Amino acid sequence: MSEKTATLDLGETKVEFPVHKGTIGPDVVDIRKLYGQSGRFTYDPGFTSTASCESKLTYIDGEEGILLHRGYSIEDLAEDSSFMEVAYLLLNGELPTPDDYDDFTRTITLHTMVHEQLRELYRGFRRDAHPMAIMCGVVGSMSAFYHDSTDIKDPEQRTIASHRLIAKMPTIAAMAFKYAVGQPTLYPDNSLSYTGNFLKMTFGVPAEPYEVNPVVERALDRIFILHADHEQNASTSTVRLAGSSGANPFACIAAGIACLWGPAHGGANEAALNMLKEIGHPSAIPGYIERAKDKNDPFRLMGFGHRVYKNHDPRATVMRKTVREVLGSLGVDDPVFDVALELEEMALNDDYFIEKKLFPNVDFYSGIILSAIGFPTSMFTALFALARTVGWVAQWNEMIEDPDQRIGRPRQLYTGPVQREYLPLEKR
Ligand code: ACO
Repeated sequence: MSEKTATLDLGETKVEFPVHKGTIGPDVVDIRKLYGQSGRFTYDPGFTSTASCESKLTYIDGEEGILLHRGYSIEDLAEDSSFMEVAYLLLNGELPTPDDYDDFTRTITLHTMVHEQLRELYRGFRRDAHPMAIMCGVVGSMSAFYHDSTDIKDPEQRTIASHRLIAKMPTIAAMAFKYAVGQPTLYPDNSLSYTGNFLKMTFGVPAEPYEVNPVVERALDRIFILHADHEQNASTSTVRLAGSSGANPFACIAAGIACLWGPAHGGANEAALNMLKEIGHPSAIPGYIERAKDKNDPFRLMGFGHRVYKNHDPRATVMRKTVREVLGSLGVDDPVFDVALELEEMALNDDYFIEKKLFPNVDFYSGIILSAIGFPTSMFTALFALARTVGWVAQWNEMIEDPDQRIGRPRQLYTGPVQREYLPLEKR
């Protein structure tokens, strides 16, 4: 894969590196031999210029606002595909035939129930536990329940673990919700779609029949598609790093959930909606924009800006359209949506945001839809985790199968004390 070379001139030595070409996107300079040949490390906190792996799953062009999964644009997938089809595509590399699709959805459906004893774990949490706290714990605990799919060297066990994670995540997330509101949990209903089943487990009660609203089902399925994968983001890199040590897949996905929880990543959808509610009225927007621009104020516009997208986030565009559909269909007139539209308009015309190339990201509008459907803000990131499990699992499998894969072990620029003499306590 390498044709060109790049030379680094360090004065006393020159080091030559291969330059690899991808199918699209920037070339990468392969610096693996740098330390061996020069005794130097590279320094790249936040990995802004570092490709940590080779991948065939997802391509992002942040300058042009392009997101492709296995070559298919996110706009086409969000418009015409389904979350289960995208899951198949990410895991297998190609779109399924009708038979493949039926087999795959049936397989996932057959794994929707969780071990009965795993249900007992919930009772150990406080009722006001954040759903992400429960998800971290419960998903990690799956390693203790599904021993027959933790041997990462066995491709069949890896496949079963992947299917289990994708299938059980809606059950686990819905149970976290039910536990918090003090309602009985529902068992999965395998006559429903993946997303319809999740809606029923979340909003249904045993005493009443539950009918899935097709507009809500389609909108939520689309939100899942938009969150399915996003190349080497923080949580995916966490899953890969955890997996690089040979940890079992359930432990790796639990690590991804922990990373996703942060407000700079998956927690931003919750933070964005809270911010829009706090703004409350379009007249208050200029004050918040001024705060976001003030270097002495830690406030940031949540749902704005992205490490990779320096043009529009294509997922935000689809999301904005979906908000209109859902609010229209549910007959909800949400003033928060008006605040969001106005805030977007004002920020996009403000020199600070133009100069720093800050655009609404996927999380800016998703909270409005989820809230209209009836999810409390604390569930937003859990829904993100549910959808991203597909990407995490696909990336984890790709990593395990990569012959170049080694344990992830970055180095550092040490700036602490040099070696010094230890003085016993009584002499200090
Ligand atoms: N509001 C105001 N200013 C911002 C914002 C924002 N939302 N985002 C970035 N900036 C400014 C920074 O202050 C910085 O200014 P400076 O160069 O004068 O210091 C500049 O833009 C670059 O910001 P960084 O934090 O260096 O950019 P980085 O790529 O590290 O961060 C991030 C990206 C974390 C997404 C950031 O834009 C942010 O905090 N946004 C709000 C949180 C959010 O919406 N996160 C969701 C991300 S998408 C996802 O996880 C699905």
